[in-house]
Amino acid sequence: MGRVEGKVAVITGGAGGLGKVTAEYLLKEGAKVVIVDLFEESLEKTKKELSVFGEVLAVQADVSKEEDVENYVKAAVDQFGSIDIFFNNAGIVGKIAKTVDTKAEDFDKVIAVNLRGVFLGMKHVLQVMEKQGSGSVINNSSIDGLAGGPQRVAYSASKGSVKNFV
Ligand SMILES: NC(=O)c1ccc[n+]([C@@H]2O[C@H](COP(=O)([O-])OP(=O)(O)OC[C@H]3O[C@@H](n4cnc5c(N)ncnc54)[C@H](O)[C@@H]3O)[C@@H](O)[C@H]2O)c1
Repeated sequence: MGRVEGKVAVITGGAGGLGKVTAEYLLKEGAKVVIVDLFEESLEKTKKELSVFGEVLAVQADVSKEEDVENYVKAAVDQFGSIDIFFNNAGIVGKIAKTVDTKAEDFDKVIAVNLRGVFLGMKHVLQVMEKQGSGSVINNSSIDGLAGGPQRVAYSASKGSVKNFV
């Protein structure tokens, strides 16, 4: 226990799924946690549930929008003074369809969240970590990033690309 005592963790897609579970785990290990998500209502509900384990800040943001990303990074630093752990996790699967049946706008939407969102998160969080001289970034890819899954061309392409970020 206490393996991340006093550390500050920012988790995108933190209102549900893997992000929420990770937030709970890090809180129990002593971190302060910033959950970032698209949906205000689920954010507030999750914040309430998680607050029994420790300090939680909830920030509404669309990870594909640069001004929203700048805002969640600033909010985290204003509230807790640093970002030590960044779980760059928010992602969507998109519509399941054969490549030939996938609309370009559906492809773009998945790429905007899964790829642009992960890039923007790294771009702005790494500026904070560079100043601190420390920090850890975990980009969430998928098994589909190793070998593309059927009927999810954008998801597979985005997750394959996330693996190659440096
Ligand atoms: N669940 C799995 O089996 C699995 C397997 C491999 C990889 N992953 C990856 O893990 C990550 C989380 O998956 P999950 O299963 O927990 O999904 P989920 O749908 O349960 O949770 C994703 C969260 O991201 C949020 N989100 C979606 N778009 C957003 C946006 N534009 N801005 C901010 N937040 C946004 C959603 O509101 C949601 O709370 C994804 O990147 C996913 O690709 C999941």
